[in-house]
Amino acid sequence: MTTTPQHQATALANPNIALVKYWGKRDEALILPWTGSLSLTLDAAPTTTTVRLSDGPDDVVSLGGQPLDGTARARVTRFIDLVRTIAGRDDRVVVDSHNEIPTGAGLASSASGFAALALAASTAFGLELDRRGLSRLARRGSGSASRSIFDGLAVWHSGHDDESSFAEAVPAPPGLELGMVLTVLDARAKSVSSRDGMRRTVDTSPYYPAWVERTPIELEEMLAAIARADFTAVGTIAERNAMRMHATMLGAEPPVRYWGPASVELLDLVANLRGDGLECYATMDAGPNVKILCRADTVDELASRILEAQPDIGVIPARAGRGARLITSEPGGSAGEQTTEGAR
Ligand code: PMV
Repeated sequence: MTTTPQHQATALANPNIALVKYWGKRDEALILPWTGSLSLTLDAAPTTTTVRLSDGPDDVVSLGGQPLDGTARARVTRFIDLVRTIAGRDDRVVVDSHNEIPTGAGLASSASGFAALALAASTAFGLELDRRGLSRLARRGSGSASRSIFDGLAVWHSGHDDESSFAEAVPAPPGLELGMVLTVLDARAKSVSSRDGMRRTVDTSPYYPAWVERTPIELEEMLAAIARADFTAVGTIAERNAMRMHATMLGAEPPVRYWGPASVELLDLVANLRGDGLECYATMDAGPNVKILCRADTVDELASRILEAQPDIGVIPARAGRGARLITSEPGGSAGEQTTEGAR
């Protein structure tokens, strides 16, 4: 599985937003989820990460040019420990990562972050992983990262062990061109991490068993809706699934509530826009920011209608984007993309 290390690699990965959510682990160490999930990788707001092998005494990790410490640093170094173990090497690393979106605000920065880190680190250490192997590795950093390896729609099979829990691409048929507008209502990092929120939900919410029972059915419904390019069904299932995920959390003790008043206003706005004939559906993750699914050719109209109603918020228009890929530095300074043959 290992070859000669490249010593340095830079990877770019986009965030993905789940249309059937992952919420709850049945194995915290391996990050095995209770249920499968499905998402759309976006063409906006990527993470770019460089990993360089070093002979320094310790790993050096920075995000946005600032050194990381505490839990955030430990999460990265634990992940690098896993890569070191698989590669059978003990080099230290310098990790330099940049997010285009606010970190830890429920805007999928951990998905793009660990997908980029998995590709950059595995390449730097000389691991030759195919896309499935890369998805499994990214999963160990953050479950949702397993899906950002792939272009567009991806399904993460829950599996029953490390080998069987991976994501793969779901082909989108012609006629199902998806778009999404992310709203940035609050860019601060959430106070309850998704890891803690999930754990509390699994351990204390009486509604969690219903989530585990229903989600596989909704995933099948979603796959069928995608296969027949039925945007209305895709959006309806996605919005309902997101509300049900938040319902399980609200049933936890104490409740896990990521919504704020501005989120509820946005949910109302989405319902009103839909009533006016602009077909769109809301989804939310572990944070107050509402993401709105639409057809790709209505993204710009949707973004401007949202800004008309809520001039003070941020919006990020997006469409289906590419999965994680390597970026090389060309002589002369321009960054060029490399087809990820190291990640076939
Ligand atoms: O990958 P994590 O641990 O950040 O979990 C993400 C969970 C949700 O974003 C809420 C849902 C999902 O499937 O992405």
